Amino acid sequence: MSQKLRTQVAIIGSGPAGLLLSELLRKAGIDAWVIDRQSRVHIEARIRAGVLEWGTVEALREAGVGARMDREGMVHSGFEMCFDGHRHRIDLAGLVDKKVMVYGQTELTKDLIAQRLDSGAPIVFSASNVQIDNVTSSAPRVRYEQAGKAHVLECDYVAGCDGFHGVARQTIPADVLKTYERVYPFGWLGVLVDRPPVAEELIYANGARGFALCSMRSATRSRYYLQCGLDDNIENWSDDRFFDELEKRLGSETAQNLQRGSSIEKSIAPLRSFVAEPMRYGAMFLAGDAAHIVPPTGAKGLNLAVADVRVLARAMIQSYQQGNTAYLERYSEICLKRVWKVERFSWYMSQLLHQFPEATPFERKMQAAEFDYLTQSESACRSIAENYVGLPLQM
Ligand code: APR
Ligand code: PHB
Repeated sequence: MSQKLRTQVAIIGSGPAGLLLSELLRKAGIDAWVIDRQSRVHIEARIRAGVLEWGTVEALREAGVGARMDREGMVHSGFEMCFDGHRHRIDLAGLVDKKVMVYGQTELTKDLIAQRLDSGAPIVFSASNVQIDNVTSSAPRVRYEQAGKAHVLECDYVAGCDGFHGVARQTIPADVLKTYERVYPFGWLGVLVDRPPVAEELIYANGARGFALCSMRSATRSRYYLQCGLDDNIENWSDDRFFDELEKRLGSETAQNLQRGSSIEKSIAPLRSFVAEPMRYGAMFLAGDAAHIVPPTGAKGLNLAVADVRVLARAMIQSYQQGNTAYLERYSEICLKRVWKVERFSWYMSQLLHQFPEATPFERKMQAAEFDYLTQSESACRSIAENYVGLPLQM
């Protein structure tokens, strides 16, 4: 016998999208359950990106989860791009009067989970066989098992915040769902070290040996990435080899400030652009990686997930508080308009900053010309800055 439960919004996935949605709804007095197939320990150990748009910062504060971010996060007013050893700063504050916050997604996830647990609101970890039923009826429900017991959660709405490999998107029939995808012919090898960052701001570098990114988590912890082959393996990359290669890709002037250290995390991730349309099916709404993936070059994955749930929370609040479902009905259309622009920016940055194995000499010249143009055109830099700090929510 299954145990029957009831809530207003059943949220599948306890990543940043699901957790933030749950908190924005809770602040508005709307009940939600968060259900994840992974354990809390597993979720809190995942190393992810770390640049927050200002809209993301504000949404986290609104959800009451910004205190540690405001204490420990680092506000950056610019970042650097480097092409064949030539560095060029994108002055975010000067160009578009906005900044970004460098604060690890891992920390953010911990803050959100802690707040959820403190509030006593329902969150279920280590759920198995999560299944979504009846989303085109007036009685949607989510079934799951936990510790050998079956549960049925009845709800008004389902939020599919269960990432790229989740069940929510798969619930949409094939003749309704349309997907768009581009897989890039390389991956990112990431290393985390307890050493001060090489520079005060992030550096995105492209050179003959490939892309490199210098990022950070704090004044004493750095995050570095190298473009690597799709079939590469972390066993091929000792810390020494990683830092030797990073030095070469950065050039001697930048590399002289690089502090090597023992890696505390090392992983390889593929790069992908992906969009699923529509983002709504009946009473189910997709948000975050469940609906779209961007390559990490523009630091947009988390921010895009946050933008979705800001729209979704507002739409659900309007529906519950005013009985007006017009905004909810337009959820997919509103999100996708912005999603595609953010996809474009992430694709553009990836295109500009990597060495493509199949690139022709002409394409390589195009990259060089694009970079040269950036160094001379304030308008071109402003366009990058406007996208990097985050486009307005309804754009
Ligand atoms: N049932 C329940 N939970 C599931 C299922 C399932 N079948 N499948 C996946 N999940 C959970 C995962 O365990 C994970 O905790 O859904 C959660 C999805 O979280 P994320 O992958 O972090 O996705 P999202 O919240 O959309 O955040 C987007 O995270 O992956 C990065 O690059 C991405 O930065 C972006 C951000
Ligand atoms: C990171 O710090 O992990 C990071 C920063 C910027 C990016 C991608 C990842 O574009």
